[in-house]
Amino acid sequence: MQIVVLNGVNLDVLGRRDPELYGGLSLDELETRIYEWASRLGCHVRCRQTNSEGEVVEWCHDALDSVDGVIVNPGAWTHYSYAIRDALELVEAPVVEVHLSNVDEREEWRRHSVIADLAAKRVIGKGPDGYREALEFLVTEGRR
Ligand code: DQA
Repeated sequence: MQIVVLNGVNLDVLGRRDPELYGGLSLDELETRIYEWASRLGCHVRCRQTNSEGEVVEWCHDALDSVDGVIVNPGAWTHYSYAIRDALELVEAPVVEVHLSNVDEREEWRRHSVIADLAAKRVIGKGPDGYREALEFLVTEGRR
């Protein structure tokens, strides 16, 4: 089983962002955990991060025929990127939307996600462990 994890804008500086909201890990540390969880779950994972919206779109296109699941945290793009939404809509494999912070209990503008209705599952406000929950969901779904 092949899963891709796409982290979007400003997640490269995760370790410098508010630890109360985002959990205090750097992106490297988060990705190390994701790779460990994936190997325990017996799936292959590839983690990618970019601050370029077009790159996320390209990676969604790459995922069309090559993955069994997508985990995506688009960062602020979650709230307004119709380009990323349109690209994710093409992906037939299940998509899990993850947010480290509880976006539903923050500013009004963060409560809206333009990809929420496409997601097979949303994991919100569970910090880094949200990615583990997303992996577990995809592995369980994939084995059905
Ligand atoms: C985030 C929440 C977004 O509102 C924010 O812009 C981020 C990170 C999260 O993981 O909690 O960059 O997606």
